[in-house]
Amino acid sequence: MSDNKIDKDQVSKDPVSNEQVLSFSSPSKVNQEKRNFLIAATAGVGALGAAAVAVPFVGSMLPSERAKAAGAPVEVDVSKIQPGSMITAEWRGKPVWIINRTDEMTADLAKHNDQLSDPNSEVPQQPAYCKNASRSIKPNLAVVVGICTHLGCSPTEKLQAGGDMGENWTGGFFCPCHGSRFDLAGRVFKGSPAPINLVIPPYQYLTETTLLIGDDTKVEG
Ligand code: FES
Repeated sequence: MSDNKIDKDQVSKDPVSNEQVLSFSSPSKVNQEKRNFLIAATAGVGALGAAAVAVPFVGSMLPSERAKAAGAPVEVDVSKIQPGSMITAEWRGKPVWIINRTDEMTADLAKHNDQLSDPNSEVPQQPAYCKNASRSIKPNLAVVVGICTHLGCSPTEKLQAGGDMGENWTGGFFCPCHGSRFDLAGRVFKGSPAPINLVIPPYQYLTETTLLIGDDTKVEG
């Protein structure tokens, strides 16, 4: 708009005299409005900038906190696990089976050594204090990472003898992915695609019935 033209929005009628009236915003009012707008816009950009700086900073902190929590040892109360049954705890995002073997189950471990790929746990899939016949600290209580050593599926518990696993089955675990079989100490049966025994994690007992998975400083120390 040139200086000598009048915008129709600037024309109104006086309600008393019915004469046309021109209205203009004062320059100082316009400038103030511009200033207010610029201040608001600058503040908004500043806030966005601060958020953009803060997000990577927070992002760099959270994973380490999460990793710390995820890698921490896990305490488990084993007092309620009935003989012949098991529970699953989670440690470092992995399932850890805690199996309360009956005396009969524990005794059966020695009866099928000839059918196992590594009956004496020569492959270091367990801490030194679990390189024994039961692969555990207490003979009846097994602690095993429930991840198949073939391609990482989680095997299904088949704790009881016989059943759909056949009359010679004395209890253990079956991996449905490709058919690996493990006994109640996590030892792999010959002929399974899984090449080695299941992992025994580091652990120790804090009390008679409290297990600490992921920390064996007391045992090792
Ligand atoms: S992942 Fe268990 S048998 Fe293949």
